[in-house]
Amino acid sequence: MCGIVGYVGYDKAAPLLLKGLEKLEYRGYDSAGIAVCNENAIQVTKSKGRLKILSDLTKEGQTLPGNIGIGHTRWATHGVPSVINAHPHLSELKKFAVVHNGIIENYIPIKEKLLKAGKKFVSDTDTEVIAQLAEFYYDGNFFETIKKVLSTLEGSYALAILCDDYPDEIIVAKKNNPLIIGVGVNENFVSSDITAVVSRTKNIIRLNDGELAVIKANDIKIYDSNYNEIKRDPFVVDWDICTSEKCGYDHFMLKEIMEQPLAVKNTIGPRIQNGKIVLDDINFTKEELNNINKISIVGCGSAYHVGCVAKYIFESLLRNPTEVEISSEFRYKNPLIDKNTLVIAISQSGETADTLAAVKEAKKLGAKVLSIVNVVGSSIAAESDSVLYTWAGPEISVATTKAYSTQLTIIYLLAIYMAEKLSKITASEYEFYISEIQNLPVQIEKVLSHKDVVKDLAQKFYNAKNVFFIGRNIDYAVALEGALKAKEISYIHSEAYAAGELKHGPISLIEDGSLVVTLATKEDLFEKMISNIREVKARGAVVILITNERPEDINEVSDFNIFIPKVCEIMRPSLAVVPLQIFSYYIALLKDCDIDKPRNLAKSVTVE
Ligand code: AGP
Repeated sequence: MCGIVGYVGYDKAAPLLLKGLEKLEYRGYDSAGIAVCNENAIQVTKSKGRLKILSDLTKEGQTLPGNIGIGHTRWATHGVPSVINAHPHLSELKKFAVVHNGIIENYIPIKEKLLKAGKKFVSDTDTEVIAQLAEFYYDGNFFETIKKVLSTLEGSYALAILCDDYPDEIIVAKKNNPLIIGVGVNENFVSSDITAVVSRTKNIIRLNDGELAVIKANDIKIYDSNYNEIKRDPFVVDWDICTSEKCGYDHFMLKEIMEQPLAVKNTIGPRIQNGKIVLDDINFTKEELNNINKISIVGCGSAYHVGCVAKYIFESLLRNPTEVEISSEFRYKNPLIDKNTLVIAISQSGETADTLAAVKEAKKLGAKVLSIVNVVGSSIAAESDSVLYTWAGPEISVATTKAYSTQLTIIYLLAIYMAEKLSKITASEYEFYISEIQNLPVQIEKVLSHKDVVKDLAQKFYNAKNVFFIGRNIDYAVALEGALKAKEISYIHSEAYAAGELKHGPISLIEDGSLVVTLATKEDLFEKMISNIREVKARGAVVILITNERPEDINEVSDFNIFIPKVCEIMRPSLAVVPLQIFSYYIALLKDCDIDKPRNLAKSVTVE
C-alpha cells in the first residue's frame, strides 16, 4: 500500500526522500513522486513504475534543490497507475503539495463544489481535492487552512502537506492510517513507516487519530483533535540497521525465513519465568476466563490461517467453542458475539483495514478484544482491550514468514496459559508444554538446516502449473498457508483441501503428473492420509509428503519425503510450515519472480 516520507532540515531533501521511499518499496506500489520546496516554489517530479525511474529522472535527487520535501509511493485505488495520478498532488496554482495514504470518501461532492468554483483538476484521484481545497480556503495562514480542510474531509488519511509560503514547515495529520515523526538533530522526518527513517534517527513519535503536527527542522508542535497543543516524548526503537536491510541475503523473504528461530525465541523469552507462562499484558482472572463461552478469531490472509490453526488448538486444549472468520466477512455479518466472547484479532501490521473494522465491530457488540500484533502502537493494538505483541522485528517481505511463526507461538502460549488457569491440563502436561515451547526455536533451526532438500524439490517442480496441498485437522490449516505462499510468491495456481474432502469433488482435477503436497503430522490420522495419498497416486499424481521423523518404513507410498522433528502435536505447524515457505521461495527464485514485492500485492492493506 502507499507510503509517505517527509524531510525538513539542512541537508538536501530529495536524495533523503528517495532513500526513505526505497525503504517503503516493500509495501507495494505502482508509481512514486517527490515534491521539494525551494525559495518559495514547489517543484514536483513523478514517475510510473519502479523507484529507479524517479531516481534516474532526478539524478538520485541531485537535480532538485531544497531542504524540505515530501515523497510518496502509490498503490492505485482511485484512478489507474500513471504519472498524473501519482502523488504528490499540487493545487492548481502550485501553492500546496500533498501526499496521502487512505481514502477520502466525500471527494466527489468536494470536487464538484471546487469545479463549480472554477478550479481545474488534472488527476482521477481522491487526493487531489485536498490540495485544491487547501488553495480554495487559503487566507495566508497555513495551519488554519489545513484545520478547515480537515474538517471538510470524510474518510481515512495520513497526510503530509507543503505550502510555498511556508518553506520551512510540513503539516501532517492522521486518521485511521499510520503516521510517525522521526525526531533528529537539526532535522526531522515524517513517514508512514519507521523503516524509512531508522537509518537517520531512532527517536520516534507516533501520531494518534485526529492529531495534527507542524514540523520544522528544530521544532515539532503536536495538536490533539481539538487543536490544543500537546506534548509527547519520542520513544526509542531498538532496531539496528540490519533489521531493515537484507544483510547478505538476496531477498528479505529468505532472510526472514532464516530469522524464524530467533523471532520465536524473542516472542517466548520474557513470557516464561520460573517455569510459568506470564502474560502480564492480559491479566485475565480465573473468573473472567471461566466466563468466556466462545472464542472468535479474526484475521486476513496468513493471519487468518494462524486463526485456523488456533481453532484446533483451543478446541482440543480448552474444549471451548472457537470460530475463525476472515475479517472482511466478520465485519459485515452481524456476528453472534457478546460480552462473554473473547475476540482475538491477529495482524502483523496492526493496520489491516478489515481487521481494524472487525475489532471495532466486536467492541461495539461488547466483546473483549485481545490482539496479536507485531507493530507496536499500531491502530489495531490501540483499539484492543489487551495486546500480545509478537517480537518478530520488522517484516519487510510482502509474504509473511516470521510474523506467521511468531503469531503461532503466541497462540501456543495463550492456549497453554488458559488451559492451566482453567485446570484443563494437569501440572505435568503444563510442564511438558512449557519445555516443548522452549525447545521450539532449536527445532525450527533443525528444519532450516535441511533447506537444500526442499530447494532440490523446487528445482524439480518449478514448472508446475497447479499444486494441491492436503492435510487433515491442524495439518489442513497449515496446508492453507502452503497454498497461499505458492500463489502469492511463485504465481502457481494452488489449492488447499481437507484431505477427506477430495473425493467430494476436487479429486477430478488430479491427472497424470499433478503435484500434491501432503501434510501428515498427526499419528491418529496418519493411516487416513496414506489412503488419501494412494487415491491421488492411483490417478497419476506426484506426491511430496511432509511428516514427522520416524525410524520405521513409511511404506514408500509417496514420491518424495520431507521429515520434520517430532514435537508435541499442537506445535507441529511451526515446523511443517517451514518447508512450504522454502519451497515457494525457491520456485519463485527459479521463475525469476519479484519475491519481496509480488505483483498486485501490498504489505499492509490499509484500504478495504
Ligand atoms: C501473507 O503472506 C500475506 N501477505 C497476507 O495474506 C497478510 O497475511 C494479510 O494481508 C494480513 O496482514 P496483517 O497480518 O498485516 O493484518
